[in-house]
Amino acid sequence: MTTMQEQTDLTIDFATMSNQIMERVDVLALHTEQEGMMTRTYLTAAHRGAAGQIAAWMRDAGMTVRRDASGNVIGRYEGTDPGSPLLMTGSHFDTVRNGGRYDGPLGILLPIGCVAEWNRQGKRFPFAVEVVAFCEEEGVRFKAPLLGSRAIAGTFDTRVLDNVDDQGITMHEAMLGADLDPVHLPTAAVARGKIAAFVEVHIEQGPVLQEEGLALGVVTAISGATRYMLELEGVAGHAGTVPMMSRHDAAMAGAEIALFIEKRCNAAPGLVGTVGQFTVPNGAGNVIPGRAIMSIDIRAGEDTLRVAAADDITMEIERICARRGVRANVKKTYEAVSVGCADWLQQRWTASLQRHGCAPRSLPSGAGHDGMIIAAIAPIAMLFVRCGNGGISHNPAETMTAEDAALASRVFVDFVENFEVPAAGQA
Ligand code: GLV
Ligand code: MN
Ligand code: MN
Repeated sequence: MTTMQEQTDLTIDFATMSNQIMERVDVLALHTEQEGMMTRTYLTAAHRGAAGQIAAWMRDAGMTVRRDASGNVIGRYEGTDPGSPLLMTGSHFDTVRNGGRYDGPLGILLPIGCVAEWNRQGKRFPFAVEVVAFCEEEGVRFKAPLLGSRAIAGTFDTRVLDNVDDQGITMHEAMLGADLDPVHLPTAAVARGKIAAFVEVHIEQGPVLQEEGLALGVVTAISGATRYMLELEGVAGHAGTVPMMSRHDAAMAGAEIALFIEKRCNAAPGLVGTVGQFTVPNGAGNVIPGRAIMSIDIRAGEDTLRVAAADDITMEIERICARRGVRANVKKTYEAVSVGCADWLQQRWTASLQRHGCAPRSLPSGAGHDGMIIAAIAPIAMLFVRCGNGGISHNPAETMTAEDAALASRVFVDFVENFEVPAAGQA
């Protein structure tokens, strides 16, 4: 006679699992603010719908689910040793405007699929596994990124609660409207020592793995970034009557600044600069722009490179504006130093890759990720999965394959099944 335990199939069908991950990515993409586009920003109806769907999948996978005070959805798969630090994984479920569907959700749905299999097998680890669906990473709606991870790391800056969205709604109001009271934010913080490691699976969002014919890579470090919002105030005037030499055109000052940023960042390998937003409020075809607003994003793996570029750019803004008779209001909205992934976790990812026939490949992340915030309370590491279409991301053409999702799932299962919580003080 066979027992229930003997009847349990201990093999995992990774092809079926990865098809489900890809299907769920598509289902989650239906939760969007803009029909036909992937836009899901913090605490909108689409965002809340996605949170509910993720929570349901976590429960189906055998996890207990809670929503923390910032709106993170956290699924917990209990371990056998209640005193053990936990293994945390996850990624974000907000998106940029008109973005891709894999940026974030892959790193939530893949571990949920793996936990469902361990649950089916009745397999438990000495440590609990928590899958965090981070509520906000991109910073789109309130111009403040990484809110979910900041809540967990205990570094949520409550000044951003006054930030307003395009409709003039403050973050504070949006949270109350979603049954989240900001006064409870401190309760989301997790103390150092409670998390043995945080590991995130994420698409690469670049071309390196695809160009090298590799499905997976281990992240070495996450680049630092400096961001500004720049408001330029010139003098609005008649497009037909004001001679060129007499103009104080805010948009042209912005254009010159943008071209300087491009030139300065071109001059140093590893440095990148982007003006992703550039608006002329109340502009019209026959009016010289009196105001312009632009964003500036400067990044580099090496902090010294980034800081030097940011200093040069802010000095050049002053020079350009002085020459053009335009007033500049430069507001630094974000600064993050480059964060390294823990060596011992990188080694564990590499060992898992090699056990599955993958060539070891390490690469830095130019994109920001929640791990750079969680690093304040726990060692972090990341597994990158190849993107198709030349690695394009933050773009609806972002893509990846089910085969790569299957391989990443195998490697993730291997990583967790071989994970050991380091003795205190040894990580
Ligand atoms: C997040 O995707 C970022 O790097 O801006
Ligand atoms: Mn992302
Ligand atoms: Mn992103």
